[in-house]
Amino acid sequence: MPVVHPFIPVSEPELGDEELANVVSAVRSGWISSLGEFVVEFEREFAAYCGARHGIATSNGTTALHLALVSAGIGPGDEVLVPTLTFIATANAVRYCGAVPVFVDAEPDTWTMTTAGLDSRVTSRTRAIIPVHLYGHPCDMDAITVVARRHGLAVIEDAAEAHGAEYRGRRVGTLGTVGCFSFYGNKIMTTGEGGMCVTNDAVLADRMRVLRDHGMDPKRHYWHEVIGFNYRMTNLQAAIGAAQVKKLPRFVEKKRQIAGWYREALAPLARAGRVHLAPEAPWARNVFWMYSVVLADPHASRDAVRARMKERGVDSRPFFHPLHTLPPYAVGKSLPVSESLASAGLNLPSGGRLQRADVDTVVNALAAALEG
Ligand SMILES: Cc1ncc(COP(=O)(O)O)c(C=O)c1O
Repeated sequence: MPVVHPFIPVSEPELGDEELANVVSAVRSGWISSLGEFVVEFEREFAAYCGARHGIATSNGTTALHLALVSAGIGPGDEVLVPTLTFIATANAVRYCGAVPVFVDAEPDTWTMTTAGLDSRVTSRTRAIIPVHLYGHPCDMDAITVVARRHGLAVIEDAAEAHGAEYRGRRVGTLGTVGCFSFYGNKIMTTGEGGMCVTNDAVLADRMRVLRDHGMDPKRHYWHEVIGFNYRMTNLQAAIGAAQVKKLPRFVEKKRQIAGWYREALAPLARAGRVHLAPEAPWARNVFWMYSVVLADPHASRDAVRARMKERGVDSRPFFHPLHTLPPYAVGKSLPVSESLASAGLNLPSGGRLQRADVDTVVNALAAALEG
């Protein structure tokens, strides 16, 4: 008889009675489209959590990025500096504007966009930088801000994976021009599908609200000065979000607790030089959206390791393919740090329901899988 292992998924949403009660209330009220009290409440509460003045809820994280870029004036022919090691939506949002993503390599210590040589990537057409707080670790925002200020660039933070992460004591999303979040089902908090732009700039906030709503003049029905989008969040999504945002501090603490468990359990493998652990720079508060490791043995096949872990009932994800290696963005140029991280990186189960014993199961599965 084969041994049957319980299945440990990489993530699972934590939804409870509070989310249910809010959704029931939205349904009973009849306000199920994008007008409704929960949208207003969720925008206010999430922006406050980030320490931002304005929150603009959107249909998902990708539309949040696109909305922020268009509102910051990014258009055809412009260049935007983007890390290559990220989810494809970061670069796609640039392309939706008709602009060109210019790919930047990763920092080996944080896995986020490197700031070394960033200046030299700026041309007369560069208009913005999108730092991505990858897997929950903030980018080195001071170094990025210096480059942005020197060249007059907008900074659109992609914080899709980093709710609550901090850079030198400040929450991500408020460190640039606009911060963009995702509330997809696998994120630290969820609305099913959903996103949010946060900003301290009232003019930009108004522009984003207008563009989100077909470009309609908020004071004049069906009057459109510009071509906008339908990027609104529904009151049903926001009903879930309004309940989730109250739990966000707890979700973040749990992610950090899971990371602590992984650090302990993985210590022998790290000491033996088999894996590199998830980073946390001295200036960072990583929220470890997905606790991740990089296999240290250059001969270990990450995909074979994943397959062997799966046989033991442990799910995982590979790191993103660097975008410059994907067909729509192939540039025929090497960005070696990202390529090497991507080929050996592994996201481990990080769902909020994990217990210490589950983390031990995952690490035992990884250790066994590394033995072949
Ligand atoms: C870094 C990053 N940016 C953008 C997105 C896009 O968010 P969404 O799936 O909500 O459109 C995601 C995740 O899905 C992401 O991980």
